[in-house]
Amino acid sequence: MSAIHIALLGYGTVGKGVYQTVQSHQKKLQALLGKEVKIVGILVKNINKHTKPDEDVLLTDDFEKIITLDQLDVVIDAIVGTDPCFTYLQQAIKRGCHVITANKEMFAHHGGQLKQLASENGVSLGFEATVAGGIPVIQTIKQLLNVNNVDKVQGILNGTSNFILTKMREENLPFASALKLAQEKGYAEADPTNDVDGYDAFYKAVILSELAFGEAPNWDESIREGIRGITPEQVEIFSSLGFRFKHVASIERTVSGIQCTVKPVLVNVQHPFYHVEGVQNAVSIDGDIVGNISLQGPGAGMLPTASAVIEDLAHINRKNLPEAFPKQKPEGNDASTLSFWAI
Ligand code: HSE
Repeated sequence: MSAIHIALLGYGTVGKGVYQTVQSHQKKLQALLGKEVKIVGILVKNINKHTKPDEDVLLTDDFEKIITLDQLDVVIDAIVGTDPCFTYLQQAIKRGCHVITANKEMFAHHGGQLKQLASENGVSLGFEATVAGGIPVIQTIKQLLNVNNVDKVQGILNGTSNFILTKMREENLPFASALKLAQEKGYAEADPTNDVDGYDAFYKAVILSELAFGEAPNWDESIREGIRGITPEQVEIFSSLGFRFKHVASIERTVSGIQCTVKPVLVNVQHPFYHVEGVQNAVSIDGDIVGNISLQGPGAGMLPTASAVIEDLAHINRKNLPEAFPKQKPEGNDASTLSFWAI
């Protein structure tokens, strides 16, 4: 059986989740794609901190060795930060590789350039994992846009912040202790500033805006506030009054352009985000035909993010290798782990 050869950039939480999922779901992927899925190379920052997951895999800290591998079909990016990631992905696209990224900061800054480059080079670019972890929000919006105009998207887009706010309320913890718990669970970014000061949610809002409205909000005119200033006393008082703090990103098309805000808000029990707790994310989309659609699911973590990456892989390869459509029904059930609700 021929194979799809993949290089993985980064072997942290997300990279390991992707590697693990390719192994654990190999049979299902083969049935779907008609090809074996092989991770042939892994790029890491410090080679001494990692062990090869398999003898046949090239583990290196040198991108040149990855990009010059004999056979390479797909590059999966699971590293953080804008550079050198952007440069690596440009090189991968120019080499003719399909690219899948989970890097929201890089994609918020350079998604437009990468999309253009991918289109010029006839390759696909998947970015499902950049927004809302395991929730298939990118595919959902793409699907809606086939017939709808999307006017507004709101979401709890940062799992770490939502986890912190939940723990502060449930366990009456100060912000710093709740943040430490989120870090121990692997939800927070290496630099948690991105999570708790709203940068991460803002980058995700930019990506959604470019997808839903075809343009980004004005970065300087957008409002971005984090959750650092919320005290356990405030959480307790508002909780006794029936309110919960939620960190909500909102993008809306208005007559004066795209408005983007990321800030903590108080919601009551009637609000659909009230029950979105822990590391969960939620996205609420307004389409002019369909009305409101809301999705909720795991917004961060090893396997939910890997799920989004592997969905892109399946999608890219189905699109590019129509002959690989399964002749038989894939094994296993198709039950979604997501809950859908309407408001
Ligand atoms: N640190 C991010 C979050 C990871 O907590 O949402 C997923 O993007």
